[in-house]
Amino acid sequence: MGRPVGPSRRHAGTVFADEIIAQAAPEPDEQVLDIGCGAGALTLLASRASGAVEPGPLGVDVSAPLLELARRRAGEAGLAARFEHGDASAFVPDRPADLVISRFGVMFFADPAAAFGHIAANVRPGGRMVFACWQSLQENDWAFAPLQAALPFLDTPPEPPDPHAPGPFAFQDRDRLAGLLERAGWSNLAIDPVETHLVLPGEDIETTAGFMMQLGPLSRLLASQEIDPAPVEAALADQLSAHQRADGRVVMKSASWQVSAERR
Ligand SMILES: C[S@@+](CC[C@H](N)C(=O)[O-])C[C@H]1O[C@@H](n2cnc3c(N)ncnc32)[C@H](O)[C@@H]1O
Repeated sequence: MGRPVGPSRRHAGTVFADEIIAQAAPEPDEQVLDIGCGAGALTLLASRASGAVEPGPLGVDVSAPLLELARRRAGEAGLAARFEHGDASAFVPDRPADLVISRFGVMFFADPAAAFGHIAANVRPGGRMVFACWQSLQENDWAFAPLQAALPFLDTPPEPPDPHAPGPFAFQDRDRLAGLLERAGWSNLAIDPVETHLVLPGEDIETTAGFMMQLGPLSRLLASQEIDPAPVEAALADQLSAHQRADGRVVMKSASWQVSAERR
């Protein structure tokens, strides 16, 4: 554990996927399972990188609209891939997987130990798993900055979140994640830090600030305390100006883990 991997500055739309596929090295005839595939970016990359033939990698997600988009993208790109609706903690593929991949799709399980055990049970012995998950909120400026900007405007500071609660930062604690995977039937673990800078959505500071205001936790927090979002957005825009590039885009630090493991 401990080898830093990954690039330094990449667009949020493509970053992390190349690194996952490079480490996973899918073969054309392998059964690949992409967990929490969303709109299918990683599934399609696995298909393209391996030269998969029909039926191709299988993406699973709980969001029907994202799966629709994924199917459309696969069709447009002419890539072998299929997408099924399901909760990955209970989903059973038509045959055991050789390789499980995921880009930020595995942190939402209510019972992660049971979910990773279930996933292991549907992977052949010796099969591989490679996924990306976030380190802590505090180490991810792109997520932390909006909350910091809001703090001075809040009537009551938010309760510190449970660091292990299901959600984007559930696997921030590397030792906990390692123990959980080992107990669930995974071995040969590597949990490598990936520190990079994300180019955030939005052509300029105002658009980026507007986008960040919509992020789940912040908008919920402001609504719950009936706080006027306008001054928060202005404070956030001010904070973002320290992270603006010459072309106007905002670039912020992110920290994640790239995890690889083998099914015992
Ligand atoms: C941050 S998004 C990542 C999407 C995609 N992997 C990507 O990189 O573009 C997380 C995805 O996990 C999905 N998800 C969350 N819990 C899930 C579960 N229990 N089973 C399957 N998918 C799940 C969500 O619907 C969402 O599409």
